[in-house]
Amino acid sequence: MDTSLSLSIITLTTLLISLNPTLVKSEEGIDVFLPISLNLTVLTDPLSISTASRDFGNITDENPGAVLCPSSTAEVTRLLHFANGGFSDGGGSTSPLPGFKVAARGQGHSLRGQASAPGGVVVNMTCLAKATKPAAVVVSADGTYADVAGGTMWVEVLEAVVGKGVSPVTWTDYLYLSVGGTLSNAGIGGQTFRHGPQISNVHELDVITGKGEMMTCSPNLNPELFYGVLGGLGQFGIITRARIALDHAPTRVKWFRILYSDFSSFTRDQERLISMANDLEVDFLEGQLMMSNGIVDTSFFPLSDQTRVASLVNDHRIIYVLEVAKYYDRTTLPIIDQVIDMLTRTLGFTSGFMFVQDVPYSDFLNRVRNEEDKLRSLGLWEVPHPWLNIFVPRSRILDFHDGVIKGILLNQTSTSGVTLFYPTNRNKWNNRMSAMIADEDVFYVIGFLQSAGGSHNWQELEDLNEKIIQFCDISGILIKEYLMHYTRKDDWVKHFGPKWDNFLRRKIMFDPKKLLSPGQDIFN
Ligand SMILES: Cc1cc2nc3c(=O)[nH]c(=O)nc-3n(C[C@H](O)[C@H](O)[C@H](O)COP(=O)(O)OP(=O)(O)OC[C@H]3O[C@@H](n4cnc5c(N)ncnc54)[C@H](O)[C@@H]3O)c2cc1C
Ligand SMILES: *[C@@H]1O[C@H](CO)[C@@H](O)[C@H](O)[C@H]1NC(C)=O
Ligand SMILES: *[C@@H]1O[C@H](CO)[C@@H](O)[C@H](O)[C@H]1NC(C)=O
Ligand SMILES: *[C@@H]1O[C@H](CO)[C@@H](O)[C@H](O)[C@H]1NC(C)=O
Ligand SMILES: *[C@@H]1O[C@H](CO)[C@@H](O)[C@H](O)[C@H]1NC(C)=O
Repeated sequence: MDTSLSLSIITLTTLLISLNPTLVKSEEGIDVFLPISLNLTVLTDPLSISTASRDFGNITDENPGAVLCPSSTAEVTRLLHFANGGFSDGGGSTSPLPGFKVAARGQGHSLRGQASAPGGVVVNMTCLAKATKPAAVVVSADGTYADVAGGTMWVEVLEAVVGKGVSPVTWTDYLYLSVGGTLSNAGIGGQTFRHGPQISNVHELDVITGKGEMMTCSPNLNPELFYGVLGGLGQFGIITRARIALDHAPTRVKWFRILYSDFSSFTRDQERLISMANDLEVDFLEGQLMMSNGIVDTSFFPLSDQTRVASLVNDHRIIYVLEVAKYYDRTTLPIIDQVIDMLTRTLGFTSGFMFVQDVPYSDFLNRVRNEEDKLRSLGLWEVPHPWLNIFVPRSRILDFHDGVIKGILLNQTSTSGVTLFYPTNRNKWNNRMSAMIADEDVFYVIGFLQSAGGSHNWQELEDLNEKIIQFCDISGILIKEYLMHYTRKDDWVKHFGPKWDNFLRRKIMFDPKKLLSPGQDIFN
C-alpha cells in the first residue's frame, strides 16, 4: 500500500517536470522548447550563441536558439526525435511545440553559414567526439580501417594513426576540418586523382537521421542513406561515426614545385602525370597560379632562388606552378631517383625552375597550417572569404584560361589569395553519392581562395566571382560549383541535374520535416 502510493507520487513529479519545458529564447525572438526530461546539455550563453552563429566565411551571422554539447549519441537522437514531434508527455499525446531546425557543426569552416541553424539548435560535434568511448579514433586490429567520430578533425586522425604505420590515403589541403564536415561535401585534394575524394574511401557510417533514428549504413546496409549522406550537405542525417580506409603510411615525402611560363605545357604535363599508373606515378598532384598583380609568395623556394622566381613572375605576368609529391620510406627509396629523373627528362617546365623539398610525411600533409599561422600573425585569417570553387571540364580548360584567368583575373589591378588549378579523374568518384562533379573523364579543380581586407571588400570579390560564373555560362562551359551556396531552388535543381529527384526522394525518406542543415538553403 505504502509502496504503491510513493511510486505514484514519483511518477507524478516526473510528469510535472517533463511538462515544464525549458524555454530558450533566441535574440531573434524565435523560441526553442526543450523539455527538461530530454536531459540535454544545452548552452544558451551569449558566447556559445555567437560562436555558433559565425563561420570561416566571416560573411554570414545567424544566431541559433541554443547549442547542444552532447555527451552521447543518445542525446542527439533525443533532440531530433523531439524536433520531429516525437516527444510524448507521458499521457499519450505528443508535444505540439517542436519543428525547430538542427545543424551539425564540425569546425564551422563553411563559407556561407552552411552549418548554421537560425533560431534552432546547433549540435557541437566536437563535444560528441571528445565523449566517444573508448576513443574518437580506433584503428582496426589489422590496420585496414579506423572508426572515427564524426566531429574529429582530420589532423587528429593523422596523429592517432600515423604512429601505427598506417594512414588514410586521401586528404584535404587543410586538416583542421571535421571528418563529418568534409564527408558532407566530398573532401578533395592532391591525392584525389589517384584515390578519389574522401567520400570514396569510407566503408561504413553511423548516421542519426532527421527522424532521430540511429542507423548504420554501408554499400550493402541501408545504401540509400549511405550514398545520400556522402556529399549530402548534411541533409539526411548527422554522421556520428565513419569507418575510414587505411593503408601503409610512408615516412617521408619529396615535395616539388615546378614552374611553367607556358599554359599548354603546364596542363599537358599535369594531365599526363594523373594518367600514369606505374611505380613512377606521383602520389600527389596539384597546381596554382603566381600572378604579378597578386602577392607572390616565394617562401617555398630556397632563399638564393627567391629573387629569380619573383622576376620570372614579373616578366611573364603569370606563372603556372605544378606541385607534385612522391612518398617514400627506406624500402622505396631507390624509386625516388627514378621519379626525379622522369620528371626532369619528360616535363616541359621553364628550364632551371624545378625545386624540391624533403619533408616528413606528417609535415607535408599539415603544410597549410604554416600558411594559417602566417596569415593569423598578419591579422589576415579572420577576414571575409568569398571563395569560389569550381570543377571545369578538361575539354574547355583553354577557353576557361583565356576568358577567366587572362581576361578577368589578370585584368584586375590587384588580386588576393591563392588560385588552385589542377586536373583530377572522374573514375574515382561514385555517381550514386550526392556529390556533383563536371561531366567529363578529366576535370579541373579551380579554387579562387580570396580574402577581403586591405583594398578589397568582399562584395567586390563576390562581383568578380559572379563575372567568372557568367563568363562560363555565356561561353557554354559546363562548370559545377563545389562548397556552393545557392538561395534559389532553381539553382539547386540545376546543380543536381539528373540527381535532383533522388536527392529530394532521400530527403523525404530520412528528414521528412526538413529539419537538418537549414543553412544550406536547399529546402527552405
Ligand atoms: C582553410 C580551408 C581549407 C579547405 N581546404 C579544403 C580542401 O582542400 N578540400 C576540400 O574538399 N575542402 C576544403 N575546405 C572546405 C571544407 O571541406 C568544408 O568547408 C567543410 O565543410 C569543413 O568542415 P567543417 O567541419 O568545418 O564543416 P562545418 O562548416 O562545420 O559543416 C559543413 C556542413 O556539413 C554539415 N555537417 C558538419 N558535420 C556533420 C556531420 N557530422 N554529419 C552531417 N553533417 C555535418 C553542417 O551542418 C554543414 O552543413 C577548406 C576549407 C577551409 C576553410
Ligand atoms: C542525464 O544525462 C547525464 C549524462 O549527460 C546522466 O549522467 C544523467 O544520469 C541523466 N539524468 C537522468 C535523469 O536521466
Ligand atoms: C564546441 O565545443 C568545443 C569543445 O568543447 C569548444 O571548444 C567549441 O568552442 C564549441 N563550439 C561551439 C560553436 O560552441
Ligand atoms: C568577422 O571576424 C571578425 C574578427 O574575428 C569579427 O569581429 C566579426 O564579428 C566577424 N563577422 C562575421 C559576420 O562573422
Ligand atoms: C579590363 O579592365 C578594364 C578597365 O578596368 C575594363 O574596361 C575592361 O572591360 C576589362 N576587360 C575585360 C576583358 O574584363
